[in-house]
Amino acid sequence: MGYIGSHTAVLLVQAGHQVHIYDNLCNSNASTLERIQRITSRDIGFTEGDVRNTEKLADVLRNEKIDAVIHLAGLKAVGESSQKPIEYYANNVQGSISLIQAMQSAGLSTLVFSSSATVYGDPVYLPYDEDHPTKPTNPYGRNKLQVEEMLRDLSVSDQAWRIACLRYFNPVGAHESGLIGEDPNGIPNNLMPVIGQVVSGKLAALNIFGDDYDTPDGTGKRDYIHVMDLAEGHLAALTWLEANPGCHIFNLGSGDSFSVLDLLRHFEEASGQSIPYQAVGRRPGDLPEYYAKADKAAKLLGWKTKQSLSDICESAWLWIKHSQNN
Ligand SMILES: NC(=O)c1ccc[n+]([C@@H]2O[C@H](COP(=O)([O-])OP(=O)(O)OC[C@H]3O[C@@H](n4cnc5c(N)ncnc54)[C@H](O)[C@@H]3O)[C@@H](O)[C@H]2O)c1
Repeated sequence: MGYIGSHTAVLLVQAGHQVHIYDNLCNSNASTLERIQRITSRDIGFTEGDVRNTEKLADVLRNEKIDAVIHLAGLKAVGESSQKPIEYYANNVQGSISLIQAMQSAGLSTLVFSSSATVYGDPVYLPYDEDHPTKPTNPYGRNKLQVEEMLRDLSVSDQAWRIACLRYFNPVGAHESGLIGEDPNGIPNNLMPVIGQVVSGKLAALNIFGDDYDTPDGTGKRDYIHVMDLAEGHLAALTWLEANPGCHIFNLGSGDSFSVLDLLRHFEEASGQSIPYQAVGRRPGDLPEYYAKADKAAKLLGWKTKQSLSDICESAWLWIKHSQNN
């Protein structure tokens, strides 16, 4: 029901899968369900629950006759993870253990896990490939890496498991309908929802954290990936796992990087709005640049990104306009 999950649910339903969403709504809203149903013209099952409630989750997996799980439930604010590390370990690591136990109890062994490029840490080389050393620099990244390691141990201990750990780069954009998009509760952390707040007048200006990096315009460069391309990656991984047991890691990124100012200019062009911004100090732990080598996903999953930065900004603008009017 969250940002990536809602877009992935739409795509899965449109590809003929039946979807049941399990979410405690700590960073999402129940109204998203109705919007997913409007887009797909299908009823979607939903249970409000915490992944740490193992018994409840196992009951849902059994009762809904689930055969594969996409595990997106987690807290994701990198900065907050340093302020509240135990909350993050409890939710993200303990939550994943509980999910695996629920799957074991329900006899399931196919899992796609939302991992992150933050597992790599300071680049030893770029682009990051899946063999790049992993040395995350914050609790959030360590949560992701610990879960990946746990999943690898699990797949060694029991060869029935089919697991894909998808290391996402920077998901942005929204569904082309404008009905769903990134809609966090509380103060947003990611760039696009903050731009949305500037457009709607809730914020006076966008804060750019650091304009003195060693990049062409001084602002940080990231590998932005359209959320619908990312959703396609989940579908491709699920299909591929049918013939491939074990635990596998894939980067999901575009292989290119754009600066914050590049993104801002594309957004201004797509929206016709001017976005005031101010450079503030660097955020501790932020990297100047990183991007993916996504050749493994291309070769094995037959997946690569299709949508450009302009597509991303146009879809985000549609969503921002829609959410302002509703
Ligand atoms: N958006 C990104 O930039 C990004 C990048 C890399 C990885 N990821 C990972 O992808 C996943 C989805 O991210 P998103 O951007 O859609 O975030 P999101 O916050 O929109 O979605 C996460 C969902 O998980 C739910 N949730 C959290 N803890 C839960 C719990 N204990 N039990 C049940 N539900 C719970 C939230 O209510 C929310 O709906 C997360 O695991 C995140 O760490 C996100």
